[in-house]
Amino acid sequence: MIKLIGHVRNFSSSPSLNVIQNVTVVGGGLMGSGIAQVAAQAGQNVTIIDVKPELLEKAQKSIKSNLVRVAKKTFKDDAAKAEQFVKDSFDRIKVSTKIEDGANVDLIVEAIVEKLDAKQELFKKLDDLSPEHTIFASNTSSISINEICSGIKRKDRFGGLHFFNPVPVMRLLEVIKGDDISEATYQAMMAWGKSVGKTCITCKDTPGFVVNRLLGPYSAEALRMYERGDASKEDIDIGMKLGAGYPMGPFELADYTGLDTNKFALQVMYEKTGNPVFEPIPLLHKMVEEGKLGIKTGEGFYKYNKNKFHYRKKKIIIDINMKHELTISGDASGKDIDVGMKLGAGYPMGPLELADYTGLDTKVQVLATLYEKTGLAVFKPIAVLNKLVSEGRIGRKSGEGIYKYESK
Ligand SMILES: NC(=O)c1ccc[n+]([C@@H]2O[C@H](COP(=O)([O-])OP(=O)(O)OC[C@H]3O[C@@H](n4cnc5c(N)ncnc54)[C@H](O)[C@@H]3O)[C@@H](O)[C@H]2O)c1
Repeated sequence: MIKLIGHVRNFSSSPSLNVIQNVTVVGGGLMGSGIAQVAAQAGQNVTIIDVKPELLEKAQKSIKSNLVRVAKKTFKDDAAKAEQFVKDSFDRIKVSTKIEDGANVDLIVEAIVEKLDAKQELFKKLDDLSPEHTIFASNTSSISINEICSGIKRKDRFGGLHFFNPVPVMRLLEVIKGDDISEATYQAMMAWGKSVGKTCITCKDTPGFVVNRLLGPYSAEALRMYERGDASKEDIDIGMKLGAGYPMGPFELADYTGLDTNKFALQVMYEKTGNPVFEPIPLLHKMVEEGKLGIKTGEGFYKYNKNKFHYRKKKIIIDINMKHELTISGDASGKDIDVGMKLGAGYPMGPLELADYTGLDTKVQVLATLYEKTGLAVFKPIAVLNKLVSEGRIGRKSGEGIYKYESK
């Protein structure tokens, strides 16, 4: 399965900053594999570099299955085209454990471990190995772009490209401008972001950039509300989904991202800004110390059980995972399940109504990512849901999903 390349790839490297055709992604983990996938899907040649061969193999597997899913959706009436799309995209991706194999390209996106010294060391090596025109970018969520590039010569060809998880699904890309970035590099990054299907927004090198900076106080205040006993976490989650239209409540989101990551992000923003809104939250620290990190450890604000569907009050997981309610749909109709959850569990919207409202395509993608990440059977996408999506019945926005709607 693994396709390691044994020599430096001879790209017809374009000296123009505007034409990015050959891309290297360093770090083939969760984010790196997603970035590689979207670039390959867009017709670019991609090399993934990782220090661990087993992670390269894992990245290839996950990219392949994601490509199959995308192909089914894009070419639903043409199996041959779908197959060709998967083959072509996958064939554009090469992998290697040697950094030299990825140096001679137009753009290098770094998605390695979130540690300043590791990122600095990597870019110093690449600065010596890469040709003049190569642009460097970091996918860091919390480290300063200026600090990462402080030791290299090509500061004018360096910036942040902050993707969101899961990369193939999330449409946003934050393009971060360090102090020394040139206009040409910035424009090339914006154009590249667009070429891989993202909507780009621009931000200076400020802690948390746009989205995490705004999500930080929101998530911190949700935790404090719960800590103070102002409202239950379930109600806060439902409130933000149904009242503010957020696809996930703050506690679901924290469990999904990982409480350790949340704690780290708040800590960095507090250290860098001194803003009391980011001050440490005792509840969060306690939960991290207890190893309650969210989905990845089986427990965070909610419980996730490997073998048995287990959820306190059965509220939010039902909303996330269609499996349970559709599995039991032989016992009760969809309508009855919705009514039951509304009247019996105080759910303001039934889980199936909510799924249609959010979009079944989004549900399938989120479930697939959760399943891949956690291995929990509860997240395994189910046939009936995949079928609805492949038929274009994706919920309210298409006029039909689990229910039919008069107008879209
Ligand atoms: N996970 C998220 O939701 C998210 C979102 C946005 C940005 N980010 C950022 O993306 C980066 C990667 O995060 P992730 O979640 O994909 O991490 P991850 O742990 O899934 O993947 C990191 C990969 O980098 C590899 N690696 C480590 N050091 C390396 C080196 N020197 N050279 C080559 N490979 C190396 C590891 O083997 C691993 O496969 C981090 O900077 C993180 O802050 C993460």
